[in-house]
Amino acid sequence: MKILGIETSCDETAVAVVEGRKILSNIIASQGAVHAPFGGVVPEIASRHHIENLPAVLETALSKAQTRLSEIDVVAATYTPGLLPALLIGLQFGKALAFALKKPFIGVNHLEGHLNSVFLDDPLTPTLGSAPLAPQVPRALRLASHKGRGSDIDYPFLGFIVSGGHTHLYKVEAFGKYKLLGATRDDAAGEAFDKVAKLLGLGYPGGPRLDKIAQEGDPHAFRFTKPKLGDESLEFSFSGYKTAALLHVQKQNGNLSQNFVADLAASFQHAVTDFLIDRLSAAGRRHRLNNWVVTGGVAANKGLRQKLATFSKEAPCNLFLPPMELCTDNGAMIAYVGGEYGKRKKHSPLSLNAVAYSALAQ
Ligand SMILES: Nc1ncnc2c1ncn2[C@@H]1O[C@H](COP(=O)(O)OP(=O)(O)O)[C@@H](O)[C@H]1O
Ligand SMILES: [Mg+2]
Repeated sequence: MKILGIETSCDETAVAVVEGRKILSNIIASQGAVHAPFGGVVPEIASRHHIENLPAVLETALSKAQTRLSEIDVVAATYTPGLLPALLIGLQFGKALAFALKKPFIGVNHLEGHLNSVFLDDPLTPTLGSAPLAPQVPRALRLASHKGRGSDIDYPFLGFIVSGGHTHLYKVEAFGKYKLLGATRDDAAGEAFDKVAKLLGLGYPGGPRLDKIAQEGDPHAFRFTKPKLGDESLEFSFSGYKTAALLHVQKQNGNLSQNFVADLAASFQHAVTDFLIDRLSAAGRRHRLNNWVVTGGVAANKGLRQKLATFSKEAPCNLFLPPMELCTDNGAMIAYVGGEYGKRKKHSPLSLNAVAYSALAQ
């Protein structure tokens, strides 16, 4: 069964062709440069670019997959959560394709895509326009984990989504069965990375830039205090980290040296990644879950990946991370989830509407 996956919830126009766990193509047209002058994603502009990009991205995805449109068995598209004008474009595009092809349509929750991205086989080739692979970082930590490949992950597992829009911990009991264990009280982790990067003058998109410059800084140069939510709390908060970063920046009186920027980036990243791992291990202990899956854009952070790799060697856990190009938004994870629902004949009506905010229902 060949599944076409379409993802336009934010500023990536992404289309993939997936067969089971196998990625036949995974094409991502990133709008980073378009939104950079605004310092963040402008929903209206994102949706206009999705309209412009989708036909070419689809064509490239099909040709890379050596698949004709008529060979597609199911069309899947993200319908929630995300920027409404952006979601609508991919959703309508997917529904129209399914209608024209007389094939089933499946609306996919973006969060479910992230949580399941770890089940995809490693792509054989890097995706177009996505973050370049960094050879010094384990490509897919799951290959080095005790359990082996993603297909071996036993349920239940602890699923962590750390992205630009979400910082959510789930108990994943089976495919399609998700129980929320904890979430952020304010910003998402990726949002905090982006905002601190902006304070440091690193521009947009901030997370990957902060990650890069942090490699050159001293992670102990500045102290950040962990939010006081209780040691065993499974909630998150990032506003204190942002305020602390702002105060350090203000003390520089507008003169941010390269050393200062690198040190602050490294210290912020060190503190936030420690906090994330802290919560992850608290959730593992509390819910007796030792298979840990970490997904979403921030899971591409080199500092976090390295720390998790070290931590998981000593902790009683099996760690599974998707390769970096499957951490950030992509169509392959949407296609994979579409395929799983397709197998179960759980199709969506063509009247399905886009929904900006929604939890991952059980
Ligand atoms: N290497 C990185 N280090 C830190 N944050 C990152 C890194 N790469 C991506 N991010 C952050 O991940 C977020 C994007 O996550 P993604 O899952 O693609 O989007 P969304 O939040 O729309 O689901 C952004 O906030 C981005 O800054
Ligand atoms: Mg995402």
